[in-house]
Amino acid sequence: MPFTANRQFKAHPRLLASARDMHYTAADGHRVLDGTSGLWCVNAGHGRQPIVDAISRQAAHLDYAPSFQLGHEDSFRAASEVADLMPAGLDRVFFTNSGSESVDTALKIALAYHRARGEGQRTRLIGRERGYHGVGFGGISVGGIAPNRKAFSGVLLPGVDHLPHTHDLARNAWSRGQPAWGGEPFADALESLVALHDASTIAAVIVEPLAGSTGVLVPPKGYLERLRAITAKYGILLIFDEVITGFGRLGAATGSEFFGVTPDLITLAKGISNAAVPAGAVAVRRSVHDTIIEASAAGIEFFHGYTYSAHPMATAAVRATLGIYRDEGLFDRAKALSAAFEEAAHALKGRRHVIDVRNLGLVAGIELTPRPGAPGARAAEAFGKCFDQGVLVRYTGDILAVSPPLIVGEDQIGQIFETLARVLDTVE
Ligand SMILES: Cc1ncc(COP(=O)(O)O)c(C=O)c1O
Repeated sequence: MPFTANRQFKAHPRLLASARDMHYTAADGHRVLDGTSGLWCVNAGHGRQPIVDAISRQAAHLDYAPSFQLGHEDSFRAASEVADLMPAGLDRVFFTNSGSESVDTALKIALAYHRARGEGQRTRLIGRERGYHGVGFGGISVGGIAPNRKAFSGVLLPGVDHLPHTHDLARNAWSRGQPAWGGEPFADALESLVALHDASTIAAVIVEPLAGSTGVLVPPKGYLERLRAITAKYGILLIFDEVITGFGRLGAATGSEFFGVTPDLITLAKGISNAAVPAGAVAVRRSVHDTIIEASAAGIEFFHGYTYSAHPMATAAVRATLGIYRDEGLFDRAKALSAAFEEAAHALKGRRHVIDVRNLGLVAGIELTPRPGAPGARAAEAFGKCFDQGVLVRYTGDILAVSPPLIVGEDQIGQIFETLARVLDTVE
């Protein structure tokens, strides 16, 4: 099982049987409020009829179309609809099947772009400590999670460096929204890497605008703006990994829109199809796309692609999902709920074990003091007890994360954080 303590799970399985709107039903019949949108992906809620209908119609109509040298109309419609939600200028779209594939695709596009401009020596990639970019060799190389890298350390991509992460509990604990401290100093670490390696060797910088998987790390004020300024100054491409922040999580179509900072490439997955069918995409600045296409001799311009790129079922799910976001105004709804969500999250201040609460849009992180000698055990116990008491949360190390579907009601927000408060009182 992926990222699972297999022996523990098999001794005490937690099985889900069905899902509808805000709830899962477990195999033992108890209902579980989805406080995490599955794995940050079911942004429109579960079992949405327009998506179910679109997928089943498509399966009967065109089950599959090869994606090499052939296409199907829905893939171009889906690409245009995705592009409409991206910041101005990022209107070329390459479909993948997952966040990991989107990341590896974006890194390859960055390398192909510099090669097309006659700067093929720009091959260095810069990620960030505590970054999560999926599990491909590209993604774990630029990613900054030690256990994901350790076993594969001998074969990680060469020529990768990392920025420091931006988490500073001593200065920024209990921040509501973006932390006040650290924007410029954390981003200026990129100047040091440029001085060390020389800009002429660096292809791209990849960061999550808000890091989700490693414990909800909200970017300090001014940080992303500064990264943008430095990358632009040196001709380095900036990639935002928006696999989590894309499609409404922060109360805007993208994190880029929310923060008002436009990168050169955006990686997408998860909420793009409401997770009903695996899907992902990379949105690319048109000038980057055109450079690659125009510099190539006749024939294939970009040697990359998946058997299931723009799979008809995926493009059907993407189009139906984006239709729901639009028709129900779900990104605005997330924005409108953010203040109540922030209040409810910060009400955990003062509860047992809680050393920080942080939040942005419909994401909150609750950091606990680790149990001596057993890091992660405390949050794992809280996760299990919440599940038994009918609320799904997530944990990474000793950080609990909450990120409900954008259809969540205020009473359900209350239920999530009240359950957490009750559970934390009983956790050793
Ligand atoms: C920012 C980010 N990038 C990439 C991924 C990998 O996505 P997938 O699991 O679909 O490969 C994730 C998954 O959580 C993610 O949060």
